[in-house]
Amino acid sequence: MKTSNITKSQAKTRISALKKQILHHDKLYYQDADPEITDYEYDTLFKELQNLEALYPELLNEDSPTQRVSEMVKDGFIKKEHRQAMLSLQNTYNTEEITEFDKRTKKFLGLEEDDSSITYFCEPKFDGLALELIYEDGVLTSALTRGDGKIGEEVLTNVKTIKSIPLKLNTKKPPKLLEVRGEVLILKKDFKKLNEKQDEAGENPFANPRNAAAGTMRQLDSSITAKRPLKFYGYAPGVVEGLDIKAQSDFLDYLQSIGIPTAKQYKVYVKCQSPEEIIKYYKNIEKTKKNLPFEIDGVVIKVDETNLQTELGFIARNPRWAAAAKFKPEQAETLLKDIHYQVGRTGVVTPVAILEPVKVGGVTISNATLHNFSEIEKKDVRPGDTVLVHRAGEVIPEVIKMVKRPKTSKAITPPINCPECSSKLVREGEEIAIRCINPFCSAVVKERLKHFVSRKALNIDKLGDKQIERFFDLKLIQNYSDIFKLKKEDLNDLERFGEKSVDNLITSIKKAKEGVSLDKLIFALGIRFVGERTGETLAEKFRNLKNLMNATSEEIEKLDDIGPKVATSLIEAFSNKEFKKEIKELIKIGLNPKLEEKKNTSNKLEGLKFVLTGTLTIGRDEATQILKSHGAKVSGSVSKNTDYVIAGENAGSKAAKAESLNIPIKSWEDFYLEFLSSLN
Ligand code: IVH
Repeated sequence: MKTSNITKSQAKTRISALKKQILHHDKLYYQDADPEITDYEYDTLFKELQNLEALYPELLNEDSPTQRVSEMVKDGFIKKEHRQAMLSLQNTYNTEEITEFDKRTKKFLGLEEDDSSITYFCEPKFDGLALELIYEDGVLTSALTRGDGKIGEEVLTNVKTIKSIPLKLNTKKPPKLLEVRGEVLILKKDFKKLNEKQDEAGENPFANPRNAAAGTMRQLDSSITAKRPLKFYGYAPGVVEGLDIKAQSDFLDYLQSIGIPTAKQYKVYVKCQSPEEIIKYYKNIEKTKKNLPFEIDGVVIKVDETNLQTELGFIARNPRWAAAAKFKPEQAETLLKDIHYQVGRTGVVTPVAILEPVKVGGVTISNATLHNFSEIEKKDVRPGDTVLVHRAGEVIPEVIKMVKRPKTSKAITPPINCPECSSKLVREGEEIAIRCINPFCSAVVKERLKHFVSRKALNIDKLGDKQIERFFDLKLIQNYSDIFKLKKEDLNDLERFGEKSVDNLITSIKKAKEGVSLDKLIFALGIRFVGERTGETLAEKFRNLKNLMNATSEEIEKLDDIGPKVATSLIEAFSNKEFKKEIKELIKIGLNPKLEEKKNTSNKLEGLKFVLTGTLTIGRDEATQILKSHGAKVSGSVSKNTDYVIAGENAGSKAAKAESLNIPIKSWEDFYLEFLSSLN
């Protein structure tokens, strides 16, 4: 409904509905990091509410979401007040609004419309999570999330795990106080890797880099944060003492010079003198943003000069001297023709929407993931529907919601039988996924073979997905060991496969056979929950495939960071006769990497279990290595079996847990002096 011809009583009803909706979506976005609607849809709701309240100011209440910065504070972190409120920016969606922003700014400053003396500093609008770093006398003493704008959460322990954030500023003359605001995010390439890891670990993938970054920052366990590839880019000062900042452009140069990252290297900052130049910048960035390593959802336009910023000041929750121009989301409507089922390496059946091909952000999409069956139920999408699709994280196309539906349509029910091998599908325990558990299902076997030869596993670069499909269908490769039995003669008569290709393939298979390390081979076997890291742990302990195959559940569970889930999965895999036979075959044909027995420096710490937490002066990896070289075990979490906790600065929940369990907590220095120094 257009807001301009709405009656007061209609407006009242609508305002109340909008408030409820916005609150609901705030919770999903900020607390659960799992939004249901796009930013664009959210902003549309927000704008409608703002317009209605402007039309009937008597309906505007203190409790309206338009009156505060919408980011909630999550329980579990210490809350701290910002010295200066962290506000947000006026969002605009079209180029006319950029011109209006320029007009407004000049009018406020008493300048003519065609005056070109104002410099606008234009930046990308990073799509991550706002963060404030606080440096006192050059030392990082606090890091706060935005929270509700006034009060944020202290996330210093997590922030200290972000390697690009300096703990000390790189300057001889640090300002007394420097608050730097910026954005925490995950690069597109790291996001892809992170989701692969989630998948390996049997966890749900993150919908996009922003959600992954938000979820990570809110981890109460900083050792999880430390494993996630977070980046930070600074973009604005908070309260600053002992430093004179003349302009936004100078501030970013200064940040760069003292070691705080900005996105300068990507040439994304531009000074503009007119709205036309800003619009040109906006359009150019929108076109080229796919080449940037991080996601952005618009541009931010700032009056460059600090004096002018002060003169312009603030209006309600937004600065008058800045505005965000957001990009139209990359989404489109199209017909959902059918729903197909895809069987993955672990047998999980994923529903995929088959779409009438449609262009989204310059790329034609003809299918999109529906994730799982509970998602289909939640979104209630059916074949025949017109649906809204977008490219989540600019990578995986995704169905957002149903838009239009023909009168006759039927909801789909999850399949009972595997679409590939017809065996009965199962749902295990609490899992949402349904799974084909037939180890000989051709879809599963093909995916397992693809995994086996993939880059992070055996890395047979001349044997890609297409060749695996082809060789499988030709019955040339049915299991792992067949790969190493391939002979030139088998391949010579194949169409589109010349002599040179055959030679290259045989060479790269030989190279993989000779060069593969034990951890990579264990990972390649595709045992559920055994990712790259677990592969390394198992290799280090068992030293060859035979030992691993004969390991007991107790032996496996005793290992650092390996739980009963992984142990059960390994035992199950090795109790499968076919699988065991296959591994024996691999060993027989010479695929049997071994790790030499490691000599320990001493066995002084034999049988003792350690947990490291906080920032240790020598670094955690080094401390771990030293402890292990004396026979100790180092684990990621504190339990009653832990013997010592070595705690550094900002030790968090683990130290607290150790205390409650009466486990001795020592600094690395004290521990070293007491137990190890006499040994060296
Ligand atoms: S400046 C007074 N610059 O956008 C406002 N913000 O609506 C100062 N953001 O949550 C903010 N990129 O996290 C600024 N280059 C940039 C930005 C940026 C992303 C985010 C920020 C905030 C939101 C403002």
